[in-house]
Amino acid sequence: MFSIESLIRSCREALSDPSPALRVAEILEPVVASPGELSRALESAPEQGSLADRALHRSDDLTLIHAVLPSGIVSPQHDHLMWAVIAQYEGQEDNVVYRESPDGLVEVERRSVRAGEVFVLAEDAVHRIANPLDRPARAIHVYGGDLLGTTRHFWDPKSGRKEVATPERLSEVLQRMSAAAGGESA
Ligand SMILES: [Fe+2]
Repeated sequence: MFSIESLIRSCREALSDPSPALRVAEILEPVVASPGELSRALESAPEQGSLADRALHRSDDLTLIHAVLPSGIVSPQHDHLMWAVIAQYEGQEDNVVYRESPDGLVEVERRSVRAGEVFVLAEDAVHRIANPLDRPARAIHVYGGDLLGTTRHFWDPKSGRKEVATPERLSEVLQRMSAAAGGESA
């Protein structure tokens, strides 16, 4: 029977695969293709608050987050510095993926991840995510490391400058963007 604990166990086993991100994507594909059990398992999971509040699992080599994006929100461009898998089970998450170059960020891909779809991001990817629909977007985000314990970066939407994503600075930017979207804090 499906449970969040069994999902975490499967993801942990995937870490010993030669391509752990692709293996995690394979594990999540059937889960989000028929998301009834996943939705039920996450019914009482927090939808608001910090990433730490919404972490389903946190260890040195794996993080699972219940990612809920309010309608209309657009995130700043940010890195993870580890592979990531987005497994969408409700709504839609629009991704713009960039790579860093000496002249700044260069767009390399646009991808709308719809309910039932899984998307893999490489370790060096930078992306921006948005919820274009009029309802929340819900997903499981899996990361190949300790996302919450890693010093990451974001690009200030106003200045375009790369900055260290301290929790305070990131939440300030998210609140500003959330207010601009007319939604709640992500
Ligand atoms: Fe991200």
